[in-house]
Amino acid sequence: MLSLRNFSRLDESEYKAVDIHEGIDNSLMILQDRLKATDKSPEIQIIKDYNNLCNVECYAGQINQVFMNILVNALDALEELNAKRTYQEIWDNPSSITIRTSAIDSQWVKISITDNGSGIPKSIQKQIFNPFFTTKPVGKGTGMGMAISYQIITEKHGSKLEFASTPGKGTEFVIQIPIQQQV
Ligand SMILES: Nc1ncnc2c1ncn2[C@@H]1O[C@H](COP(=O)(O)OP(=O)(O)OP(=O)(O)O)[C@@H](O)[C@H]1O
Ligand SMILES: [Mg+2]
Repeated sequence: MLSLRNFSRLDESEYKAVDIHEGIDNSLMILQDRLKATDKSPEIQIIKDYNNLCNVECYAGQINQVFMNILVNALDALEELNAKRTYQEIWDNPSSITIRTSAIDSQWVKISITDNGSGIPKSIQKQIFNPFFTTKPVGKGTGMGMAISYQIITEKHGSKLEFASTPGKGTEFVIQIPIQQQV
């Protein structure tokens, strides 16, 4: 509960300088059950390449929501791919999510989240930020995760959200965010 409270930061309605790594780790903690090994697939590997970052001024609850949306999509994509692979195939080429953070310069930081899941077909890449666009089964996705994330990153934080994906290989989402918000 403490983690959920830290995570959502519902009581905070102002920009505040926060530790980005803490927000990502909180999201991973909430998702830890989905990383565990099952009888069908080995554990999903989380590879962290965290570098020294200044605290970032943001609406922490909203930024955490973006991390969560991207990570859940990565897990869905890994599961989609693994549904077509045997235990041995997954063992030989393990599912992973790689999280890299770095300072771009004295004002901007970069957060990259890469999965080696199903990837996004070229034909739908233009649509993934559209509200209600989903490829998931009825009842699973609402298609709002990326639309909301895009709005949070671009409009609320004057930041950038981009992705690159190769079907069959995986997807990388990149967030670029300024350390200080322009008021
Ligand atoms: N990492 C990823 N790998 C593969 N496809 C992805 C990935 N991230 C997003 N997508 C594609 O983009 C679509 C839109 O994502 P979005 O998060 O907006 O909706 P959703 O996950 O379908 O539903 P929800 O609103 O519950 O998040 C997904 O349905 C999926 O097709
Ligand atoms: Mg989603």
